[in-house]
Amino acid sequence: MKILGVETSCDETSVAVIAEGVVLANVVSSQIKLHAEYGGVVPELATREHLRNLLPICGEALSLAGVAVSDVDAIAATQGPGLPSALMVGLYAAESLAFVLDKPFVPINHHEAHLYSAWVSGNPLRAEFAEFEPSVSLIVSGGHTLLVLVEAELRHRVLGGTIDDAAGECFDKVAKLIGLPYPGGPELDRLAQFGNPCAHAFPRPMIHDPTDDFSFSGLKTAVRYFLRDHPEVLETRAAIQDLCASVQAAIVEVLVKKTIRAALRAGVKCVTASGGVMCNSALRRELGEACAVARLSLRIAERGLCTDNAAMVGILAERKLLQKDGAHRYDFEIAPGLALV
Ligand code: KG4
Ligand code: ZN
Repeated sequence: MKILGVETSCDETSVAVIAEGVVLANVVSSQIKLHAEYGGVVPELATREHLRNLLPICGEALSLAGVAVSDVDAIAATQGPGLPSALMVGLYAAESLAFVLDKPFVPINHHEAHLYSAWVSGNPLRAEFAEFEPSVSLIVSGGHTLLVLVEAELRHRVLGGTIDDAAGECFDKVAKLIGLPYPGGPELDRLAQFGNPCAHAFPRPMIHDPTDDFSFSGLKTAVRYFLRDHPEVLETRAAIQDLCASVQAAIVEVLVKKTIRAALRAGVKCVTASGGVMCNSALRRELGEACAVARLSLRIAERGLCTDNAAMVGILAERKLLQKDGAHRYDFEIAPGLALV
């Protein structure tokens, strides 16, 4: 079975071709440069860029995979959550193609795709669901921070999520306060590597809260007040590096502690982690160390699959079709606020 996957939920236009769990092609066109001068994603610009790029990228993915469009067996696209007009480009193009080719169409929840991307690795990238075991999954992206109990493949339940800002949003907003270029998360990560994480004691919001929920807006506000009272911190590179390391340490400690606690409480032996923020080097390292101490196995999505991509869309669609959980109609609506349940 060959699946064409499409992802346009935010500022990456991506098309992938999957065959029997193997990623034959995963072309990602990032719009980072386009949005950089505005300091964030501009939905109208993102949409126009998706419109411009989607068909060429689709052609490139098919040609890299050596697959003719007529040989595609099913088509999948992100249905939500995401920016409404951006989602519309990918979803309706993919759905139309499925209709014209008379092939099944599978709408995909963006978070669910992130979740299962942790089960894809190797070279070439391939799905490793034969190794599946019940797990607690941390999904950390620009828009969401979720802890999910995955009882069986495609059977999961959200344990908790952020009640305000997502972890990635916190990275990005703090980076903006410091004056770092967009996108702030990766830049803050880079500077933090040279800083002292104990230089400043920022709050660890909800770290002792018994729920599996998160809150990061207070941390962002704490940094804002800190900078108001200590503007000199922004004057030297070393002080900025210490600030970045200290903020990152606060975010990472909350994410790691709450993930381990949720896994131990749920009685699972495995943790998975995915989403854009899982590119963060300290988070990858510290989650690894904490899982080893707690004797939990860990699967972190490969860096290239952490940020938005269509391979995760195609892989999930294939699993859904194999489990007869797919769809064969062509009247799907975009769902900008689609929740993972
Ligand atoms: O999953 P993703 O590509 O898009 C969404 O679905 O939101 O995640 C993007 C988020 C952004 O907030 C970005 O700053 C963050 O992931 N991010 C990072 C790093 N790389 C990407 N945050 C911290 N450290 C990084 N290295
Ligand atoms: Zn995402």
